[in-house]
Amino acid sequence: MKKVSVFFALIFAMMGIVRADEGMWLPMFVERLNYVDMQKMGLQLTPEELYSINNSSLKDAIVGLSNGPKPRGFFCTGEIVSGNSLLFTNHHCGYSSIAALSTVEHDYLNEGFAARNFSEELRAEGVSASFLVRMEDVTAEILSVVTDDMDWTARNKAINAKAKELEEAASEDGKLNPVVKGFFEGNEYYMFVYKTYTDVRLVFTAAQSIGKFGGDTDNWMWPRHTGDFSVFRVYADENGEPAEFSEDNKPLNPKHHLPISISGVKQDDFTMIWGFPGSTERYMTSYGINYNVDSFYPVVYEVFKAETDVMDEYMKVDKAVNIAYADNKAGLANTWKNFEGQMTMLRKNKVAERKAELERQFSEWVNANEDRKAEYGDVLETLEVMFAQLGETAGRLYYPNFLGQLNPLSTASLLMGYVNVMTNKESTKEEKQAAAESLKDIDVDEEFKDLDARVEKDMFVAVMNIYGNKFATEELPESMKKLLKKHKGDWTALANYIFDKSMFSTPESFKTMLEKPKAKKVAKDPAFVMIQALMEQIYSVVPVYRMANTAIAEADHKFVKGLREFYAETQPNKVLYPDANSTMRMSYGSVKDYQPADAISYDYVCTANGILEKYIPGDFEFDAPDDLLNLIKARDFGQYADENGELITCFLSTNDITGGNSGSPVINGKGELLGLAFDGNWEAMSGDVNFEPKLQRTINVDIRYVLFIIDKVYGASNIIEELDIR
Ligand code: ARG
Repeated sequence: MKKVSVFFALIFAMMGIVRADEGMWLPMFVERLNYVDMQKMGLQLTPEELYSINNSSLKDAIVGLSNGPKPRGFFCTGEIVSGNSLLFTNHHCGYSSIAALSTVEHDYLNEGFAARNFSEELRAEGVSASFLVRMEDVTAEILSVVTDDMDWTARNKAINAKAKELEEAASEDGKLNPVVKGFFEGNEYYMFVYKTYTDVRLVFTAAQSIGKFGGDTDNWMWPRHTGDFSVFRVYADENGEPAEFSEDNKPLNPKHHLPISISGVKQDDFTMIWGFPGSTERYMTSYGINYNVDSFYPVVYEVFKAETDVMDEYMKVDKAVNIAYADNKAGLANTWKNFEGQMTMLRKNKVAERKAELERQFSEWVNANEDRKAEYGDVLETLEVMFAQLGETAGRLYYPNFLGQLNPLSTASLLMGYVNVMTNKESTKEEKQAAAESLKDIDVDEEFKDLDARVEKDMFVAVMNIYGNKFATEELPESMKKLLKKHKGDWTALANYIFDKSMFSTPESFKTMLEKPKAKKVAKDPAFVMIQALMEQIYSVVPVYRMANTAIAEADHKFVKGLREFYAETQPNKVLYPDANSTMRMSYGSVKDYQPADAISYDYVCTANGILEKYIPGDFEFDAPDDLLNLIKARDFGQYADENGELITCFLSTNDITGGNSGSPVINGKGELLGLAFDGNWEAMSGDVNFEPKLQRTINVDIRYVLFIIDKVYGASNIIEELDIR
């Protein structure tokens, strides 16, 4: 039917010779690529039971969670665990919703929440849950619009237009949400058709001292004692179709839900994980890695860390600040710690060096043949040169960018368009009117929602100093130089001055200004002057940045194309899998311990005893609820104890996952739920670029710990009764 690509030729050649652990596989190819191998490892389900587009199958219990109604990407994964569409995901996946629903009076974040019946369930606004109806190969259709004379930008434009056309044709008048995605750097295309439900409700969460036990200290680490789960439910209209939130909606009757096993796990047990991994860079070159490690990650790390340090100070002592900043802080901290881990482990695991060796072999193969030389001869050099360019612009792009996102600069930036039009002599009357009109769209209260002036000011001073340290005064835009000179080159003094004097710092002064806006006056506001200067600096590097990124995308496309030919010829037994891109994947492996370093051996399970060991009363990260502690001390684990009477909190498996997989079900050979994936381990933080079989592990919360918390700690027997426990 469709053009047989190199990929397909490879698939057929390779059946049954795949190695487990590494790889995030597309559901529609599991039968051909992985099934035999999975069976050997302990899978008992048929291919039809895993992925079928006609009958209900395991994939129908897997849900992608998005912000907003369009499933372009998924921030997490969930799984359906009851006939009433009860949905399990991670606590950190529900975190935004839980924080948004929390107030000082109803502090679900710090105390937990358990709905005793449907009517008590709380609307998780903005969250949608998408089911994959089917996926299909649209490579031929998409690439049919590409012609030889197109440059990279024209090519993408044509591809996007075609993708949109295919998506619209498959949408059944908006009932379905089809999404076309590129694979192997634009060498293949697949369409994923989703049904998206927008009425999702919170059913249960433990206190964050359970759900986030260990905080950012334990994040990305093993051993682990985090009860990282929360419970939601998907609602539909009376016909089971997606509908806006309404009191009349009913719990969705799902096509499939996962039964639960409380038999526990043993070393080497088969595990598969289904979900929506967001992004990996397994085909990244050494140049890309070096750029990230040397130029990009350090900036993000430095700024985000400074910001969360400030937030922490206030969050520790002020409950309102704690709730208001919780979500923002969790995201920033998760990112800077991830980047710290990547910087350390990409170096330690010598990933760039190993990629450079692959690039050397690739070049040798290219240079051995004139046709290949013509097609791929300049690819690596392009990448080297372009990443060097990006590296040079990174500081001037990212430092001003991050500084400009802080108040009062970000609020001042809302007036930039307006001031431009009003102070430009060539603006027409209509343009001025439209600009004045646009100010009415500014929702000042929304801009300041959940912000604490003390936190905002301290963050601004901190990041201003980081920024100031990066640039020699001569490099700065003129208007900024002037501002700085007035404060004798003292960045702290300048930051204080801007924050204290700007009309954009408080909702009151901002509102007063909006009542009678005067462009000339706004133009002189110190925050406005500063944000304009920062934009000037950013714009000075944007052309290079754009040019380099386009060149890199095109070169990556060619490199991966060449690399696939290279492997097909030199290592025909190797099966390549596409990078994660927020589409449904299956990864399979087994339960396994690991040795992080010489003389150190990590067990594959953690027990609740570790909670008592780590417990620090009143601590920001290591406090724990008395109810939990008492049950552990009394060893009252009920049916959730293992055969030694221990309560397992988390376990390790070799599955290949990444961010976006959070909340994904870990499933045994019978299709039963064993736990929820929620993290990766520190020693393999380089894993998104290169999978490390000896070191890389997925950290899962054991389903028995999940049920123990729901049942024994919170007494939410209504939830337990709904489940299909085996
Ligand atoms: N590291 C986890 C992930 O990215 C997120 C954990 C969130 N917890 C936290 N303490 N910030 O999948």
